[in-house]
Amino acid sequence: MRKKIVAGNWKMNKSKTEAVALAQDLLSADFDKTVDLLIIPPFLYASELAEACADSRVQVGVQNCSEHTSGAYTGEVSVSMIRSVGVSHVLVGHSERREYFGEQNAVLAQKVDQVLAAGLTPIYCCGEQLSEREKNNHFSLVKSQLEEGLFHLSAEAIQQCVIAYEPVWAIGTGVTATADQAQEMHAFIRQLLTDQYGESVAQAIPVLYGGSCKPDNAQELFANSDVDGGLIGGASLVASDFVAIANSF
Ligand code: 13P
Repeated sequence: MRKKIVAGNWKMNKSKTEAVALAQDLLSADFDKTVDLLIIPPFLYASELAEACADSRVQVGVQNCSEHTSGAYTGEVSVSMIRSVGVSHVLVGHSERREYFGEQNAVLAQKVDQVLAAGLTPIYCCGEQLSEREKNNHFSLVKSQLEEGLFHLSAEAIQQCVIAYEPVWAIGTGVTATADQAQEMHAFIRQLLTDQYGESVAQAIPVLYGGSCKPDNAQELFANSDVDGGLIGGASLVASDFVAIANSF
């Protein structure tokens, strides 16, 4: 049985007071017992929120990390720093990092290695722009994102990873992939994992869907056999919406 995971990527939102209040609301909420819950706040709040969530079911991730171990990299945050404040997960290669910060598969492979070496869980993001889908290029694009960013890993190492499929055209747009579109790509990703690592490894790796996932479409998305949960943006900023999504399995 694969893990079911619902993760809230808060992106660059919330003051500290608002962030703490949102976390407190989630800590007192009633969640489906079978779901792993994760909040992914801005770096600045990760330490305090990891402490607040320490003895709870809510785990804390961050949105990025450095590909370097330590040293003269002004403005960067290393995985050992991230681990030292009690954070468990790191997003790697979110489409906004790829698009606005020029992160490419090769550097993302280094970040994945850093996260795993620190004993943390990478959530490796993939997904196509609308123009790629319109050219019917979406499968080969996602394939190269996985091959170049993740498939250098051993079978043992890749089982420590989570994959998130986020079609860029669905992020923050209100246009969600249909349940069939999500399942089609998730099944494709599962097949790539099977071809590379074999059936039992492929069956063990959670693949999350992200992109305008809301309380009113989560159930239909999560009902698909290869959709193991969600990476939620906008709706994760409202406690009641995030709780409703997490309770949609
Ligand atoms: P939205 O849910 O706001 O579309 O964002 C999805 C996302 O990018 C999560 O990482």
